[in-house]
Amino acid sequence: MGADLEFSERADHGRDLGQDSGQDSGQEHGQDLGQDLGPRDAAGACEPEPALIAVLAASAPPQLLPALRALGHEIQLFGPEEIGELAGWPVALMVVDQDSLGGPEIVRTLRRLDGHARTPILLVASGEAGAIRRAAAALAVTEVLVRPLDPIELQMRVRALVELSLARREAERATRTMSRHVAGVVAESEAREREIIQRLMLAAEFRDDDAGDHLTRVAGCTIAIAEGLGLSEREANDIALASTMHDIGKIGIPDSILLKAGPLTSEERAEMQRHAERGHRMLQNSPSRLLQLASEIALTHHERWDGAGYPQGLSGSAIPLSGRIVAVADVFDALISERVYKAAWPLEKARAYLVQHRGSHFDPACVDAFLSRWEDIIGLLQDRPATPKAA
Ligand SMILES: [Fe+2]
Ligand SMILES: [Fe+2]
Repeated sequence: MGADLEFSERADHGRDLGQDSGQDSGQEHGQDLGQDLGPRDAAGACEPEPALIAVLAASAPPQLLPALRALGHEIQLFGPEEIGELAGWPVALMVVDQDSLGGPEIVRTLRRLDGHARTPILLVASGEAGAIRRAAAALAVTEVLVRPLDPIELQMRVRALVELSLARREAERATRTMSRHVAGVVAESEAREREIIQRLMLAAEFRDDDAGDHLTRVAGCTIAIAEGLGLSEREANDIALASTMHDIGKIGIPDSILLKAGPLTSEERAEMQRHAERGHRMLQNSPSRLLQLASEIALTHHERWDGAGYPQGLSGSAIPLSGRIVAVADVFDALISERVYKAAWPLEKARAYLVQHRGSHFDPACVDAFLSRWEDIIGLLQDRPATPKAA
């Protein structure tokens, strides 16, 4: 990565800690700062995970750098004109030498850099401790150390801040990984749900009046109407997919009724009409949003806007929108298809039927939406014609 290369180049620049050690080898409180709490200290503490610490100073600050180096982290010095280079770098801690920079205002600039809104900042300054802390708190500085420095305290604070920073970074990484995993599981689950529905549609097709591409055309008309009504693409697609099961309740209807060429008796018609409730029962109480929608459509696609439909005799907006949409799509396709009991109607005649029954059988808004997408529907029918054998 460019940052690593730059890091090496900068290390050769004569400003990194090793090069500065000549002027940084001074002692504070009479101690050798480079020996205090190093990675191989007498207590046998674990090696720290190497982290990148940025020291912001106008010139290499004496005492500070050797104490930081002794912790085993990678230290890089940045002058005030180089601050922008920190943007996006995985810096675990930024140590700001206020004395050489003339004030803590640089912290505002650091906070605005990409990726450093929450990077811990340790401010090192000389002066009255209370005033320094108040100014630092107002700038969202994480920690303050007032000179003269106690190297032990410095190293303890730095260790704590680096651990905090690395732990937060790890938590953020774990959260991102978990989010991706969850998104993958959801996508897989939705794909399986759709596959199951498409397989159910195949089952329904076997029993839907020799349906042919009927279900596909109904789904296409459903999308056109839903989009014409201003529903979102996802809502339109969901209703269309769920619409493919609108007649799944016909699975239980005997062939003698389903395939009867002549008119049905009143009992046969009553048996036929039971497919709405039967389909609803087959699909209801599922945790799947799509199956719930399919259950709603199965129950309501034969309701009429004027209340003369079945099975519940609902009217107007008491009929779920999905059922009102599919009613238009289903009747239109039934009209233009040949069935055992009827010839196929020309498209214009079927279109005129919808207009004629706008506000009686059908929701006027759904008919208007259908008409507004007429060209799309013509295109769909060219791709999936209602052939003489289709119903
Ligand atoms: Fe039906
Ligand atoms: Fe149908």
